Amino acid sequence: MANLASEFVGIKSPNPFWLASAPPTDKEYNVRRAFEAGWGGVVWKTLGSEGPPVVNVNGPRYGAIWGADRRLLGLNNIELITDRPLEVNLREIKAVKRDYPDRAVVVSLMVPCEEEAWKAILPHVEETGADGIELNFGCPHGMAERGMGSAVGQVPEYIEMVTRWCKQYTRMPVIVKLTPNITNILYPAEAAKRGGADAVSLINTINSITAVDLDAMAPEPTIDGKGTHGGYCGPAVKPIALNMVAEIARHAETAGMPISGIGGVTTWRDAAEFLALGAGNVQVCTAAMTYGFRIVEEMIEGLSSWMDSKGYSSVAEVTGRAVPNVTDWQYLNLNYVTKAQIDQDACIKCGRCFAACEDTSHQAILMKEGRVFEVDDSECVACNLCVNVCPVENCITMRRLDAGEMDERTGEKVPAKFGDWTTHPNNPTAQAAE
Ligand SMILES: Cc1cc2nc3c(=O)[nH]c(=O)nc-3n(C[C@H](O)[C@H](O)[C@H](O)COP(=O)(O)O)c2cc1C
Repeated sequence: MANLASEFVGIKSPNPFWLASAPPTDKEYNVRRAFEAGWGGVVWKTLGSEGPPVVNVNGPRYGAIWGADRRLLGLNNIELITDRPLEVNLREIKAVKRDYPDRAVVVSLMVPCEEEAWKAILPHVEETGADGIELNFGCPHGMAERGMGSAVGQVPEYIEMVTRWCKQYTRMPVIVKLTPNITNILYPAEAAKRGGADAVSLINTINSITAVDLDAMAPEPTIDGKGTHGGYCGPAVKPIALNMVAEIARHAETAGMPISGIGGVTTWRDAAEFLALGAGNVQVCTAAMTYGFRIVEEMIEGLSSWMDSKGYSSVAEVTGRAVPNVTDWQYLNLNYVTKAQIDQDACIKCGRCFAACEDTSHQAILMKEGRVFEVDDSECVACNLCVNVCPVENCITMRRLDAGEMDERTGEKVPAKFGDWTTHPNNPTAQAAE
């Protein structure tokens, strides 16, 4: 079996699956059970500095979005950082790290944006033997109002400043956790780099209102008639997270900076996708909260088998493999032509492809006698909508036209893949050469 042992900013763990800072990592009891289940590491639920206690709501703190099968797709929360006393957490972290020296124990921190506050807490964390710290600049609710969390994460200058303090006052690796609630993820990532961060982790949760209670006329979850935005996570946010990870991995300013990928990781495949786009490991929250700690078994088994099947012998070999293939739209090969094709044996004659194409797209699907649906190549622009609305997997697929084959829509032969594209006016490389 492929070796899943992972090293992230010098922190070793038996596999690249860490639990993200959240309820699953809020206490010793949970973390011990997580390690027994096989998790490679944890980022301990965010600690704050000593001071007035953190008090959570006593009403519901979650909202959700489900698929038609009631599968949880998106989770929204209005929970704050840990509400357990600092010294209790520190004592527990020390005990857990002592008993699981081979697992990664990183401590998430969020204290006021003042040098003294950071300087004060870091030695206490170091004393636990923890492997590193993660700076929570992402929490989108509750703490932002107090000048912490995403209030810091949205201002690159603050990120740089706090990261620099942490690098100054601790020898532990510093991972900066980024909020997605910004316009361009490169700005905070670059700031973290300037401040000397060892790595970035992303994403934290996305500002969201998952639903409105139409009787109470208030957002859900509703607390005594009022609601507030929460932080969105789970499978629904994975596409946003993947893009942000890829942006950091492929841009010169931030390329090479280690990335811990977070956001909707539920299966080994999700994890492999984050790795391929540049992550060195992944963190998981919602999947563990939905299915329990043992979900890591499938992740380990699946990633390992897939790596074996592809001949990858280490996680590091997978990291960044897809990054060279992430490009800007203008670099896409416009000579690449495909057409939809319908497998008549698999078709259940529901007509969704027809409705979608006829009403909203290119009128390229014909309904024939007996509800037989056929693609009209002369109208098909290969948009792929029919593939996505079809309820039967692989019933509609896209067939690539060979070089020299006639494209019935344009009436032109498909050029050789690379030959003609190099001189195509839409190819920026060709323009540069002129
Ligand atoms: C209930 C809940 C509490 C969370 N608390 C924290 C926190 O204290 N600190 C933090 O950095 N992230 C916190 N997060 C965010 C997660 O660590 C993670 O970034 C996010 O959930 C995305 O991952 P996922 O899609 O696997 O859940 C919390 C998430 C949830 C659902």
